[in-house]
Amino acid sequence: ATADIGLIGLAVMGSNLALNIAEKGYTVAVHNRSPGRIDEFVSEAKAQGLDGNTIPKYDLADFVQSVKAPRSIIIMVKAGKPVDDMIEQLLPHLEPGDAIIECGNSLYTDTQRRFDYLKPKNIGYLGVGVSGGEEEGARHGPSIMVGGSKEQWHNAEAVLTAIAAQFNGESCCAYLGEGGAGHFVKMIHNGIEYGDMQMIAEVYGVMRDGLGMTASECGDVFKKWNEGPLNSYLIEITGHVLHAVDADTKKPLVDLILDKAGQKGTGVWSAIVAQQMGVPATAIEGAVAARSISSRKAERVAAEGIYGRPNRVRSDVTLDDLEKALLAGKIVSYAQGFAVIAKASEEFGWSLPLATIAKIWRAGCIIRSRFLDQMASAYSKGDASNLLIVPDFVAIMKDAHPSLRKVVAGAAMGEFPMVCLSAALSYFDSYRQAQGTANLIQGQRDFFGAHGFEIEGRGGDLHGTWPSTLQNKAAAPVVE
Ligand code: 6PG
Repeated sequence: ATADIGLIGLAVMGSNLALNIAEKGYTVAVHNRSPGRIDEFVSEAKAQGLDGNTIPKYDLADFVQSVKAPRSIIIMVKAGKPVDDMIEQLLPHLEPGDAIIECGNSLYTDTQRRFDYLKPKNIGYLGVGVSGGEEEGARHGPSIMVGGSKEQWHNAEAVLTAIAAQFNGESCCAYLGEGGAGHFVKMIHNGIEYGDMQMIAEVYGVMRDGLGMTASECGDVFKKWNEGPLNSYLIEITGHVLHAVDADTKKPLVDLILDKAGQKGTGVWSAIVAQQMGVPATAIEGAVAARSISSRKAERVAAEGIYGRPNRVRSDVTLDDLEKALLAGKIVSYAQGFAVIAKASEEFGWSLPLATIAKIWRAGCIIRSRFLDQMASAYSKGDASNLLIVPDFVAIMKDAHPSLRKVVAGAAMGEFPMVCLSAALSYFDSYRQAQGTANLIQGQRDFFGAHGFEIEGRGGDLHGTWPSTLQNKAAAPVVE
C-alpha cells in the first residue's frame, strides 16, 4: 500500500479534491463506479502534471488495498442513499481502525446515524462539510468543517489541513465535534449563505426597480461595496454576475435569467432545526421562503394580473442606506446562525468552538468575508452570547439599523418584497425591546386553555377569571 489517502467518486468535486490532494504532495488512490470517469481523471491529472501522486484503481478491493493502513477513505458521492450504499460496499474491505470520510452535503442526522452504526465495528466515520464550490474551492482550497471520530481525524488531519484554504497562514480546516457536528455546521453555513444571497437580491431589487439602475450600474455598486465593510466573496461575485453580458443578445445576462431560484435542501433543514430547537433564525427562514415563492412563477404572474403591477414609488433611499441596511441585516442573520450552532452544541453535547468556526469561514467558503474576522475575534474573547450584544457589533448596529429601517419602510411603501431584510429588522426590534407583547398571548392562552401566566412578584402558573362563555360576554350589555 502506497497511497496516503483514498478517494471514491470522481465527479467534478471529487476529482478536484483529488487533484488538490495530489498537488499538496500527498499520494491519492482514486476509484469511481464508472471506469470511463477514472480514465478521464487520469488524463486530467496528467495534463496538470499531478499523475505521479495519483493511483487510479478500477477495482474496489484493489483500491482499498492500495491505501496505507489505518486507512482514510474519502467518499464523494451524492447525498442520501448513495452514501449508505457506498458504506456497505466498502465495509467488507475495511479493517478495524480505518475510516470513511464523507464530504457531501449530508443531513447531519444521517451522518450521526452512520457514525453510530460504524462505531461498534471499530470503523471511524468522519462527516465533513466542504464549502467553496466544486470547481474553485475544491481544487484550490475549500473551507473544511470536520465532525466524527476524533481518533481517525488525526490520521487524515495533515492531508485535510493542507488542502484547505489558508487565512493569514492558518488553515481553514478544523475538527469541530463528534458525530454529525461537521455536517451540522456546514448546514448552518449554507443557511447563512441563503440569507446573504437573499438580502443581496432584495437590495438589488431596489436598485433595479426603485432607483432605475441598469445591471451594469448595479454591478459597479457591488464592486465598490466589496472594498468596504461588506467585503466578501458573495458581494464580489454579485458584481461579476451583474456585469456579465449574454453573447447572443448582448444584453445583461442577469436580465435574461428567469427569476426562479433553485434549492437543494440545506436551507430548509437549517430553518427546521432552528425551529425545533426554539432558536429564531428568521433570516434563514425568510430566505428559504423567498426561494419557494420565486419558484412559483406562474402563480406570481397570475397574481400580478389581478393586483396590477407593483406601484414602485421612488423613495429617498440612497445607495449608502442600502449598503448599511445590508450590513445590519447580515449581522442579525449571523447572530441568528451562530445562536443555532451554540444551541445545537448544548443540545447534542458537541462543544462546538464558535471562534474556530468563524475562523475557518474566513477563507475558502461561500460566505467568506472580512466581517467574519471580526466575528472570530469577538468569539475568541469568549463572548458566546448573541452577537447583537457584543460591543464591536453593537457599535455597527447602532450606526446601521436606522438605514435598515429606512430601507424596509421604503420597500413597504414602494411595494417591494423584502422577506429577509424585514425579518432581520423585526428580529432586531423584538430582541432589543424590554417590553414585548407576549403578555397578551399569555392572556389569550389562559382564556381558552387555562395555560397559565406569570405576574412579577406573584409567581407563575396563575390564572385569570374569564367569562365562562363567549356568548355570555357578547350578550352582556356594554352601555345601560
Ligand atoms: C458551498 C455551497 C454548496 C452549494 C449548496 C447550496 O458551501 O460550497 O453551499 O454546498 O452551493 O449545495 O446549494 P443550493 O443553493 O442549491 O441549495
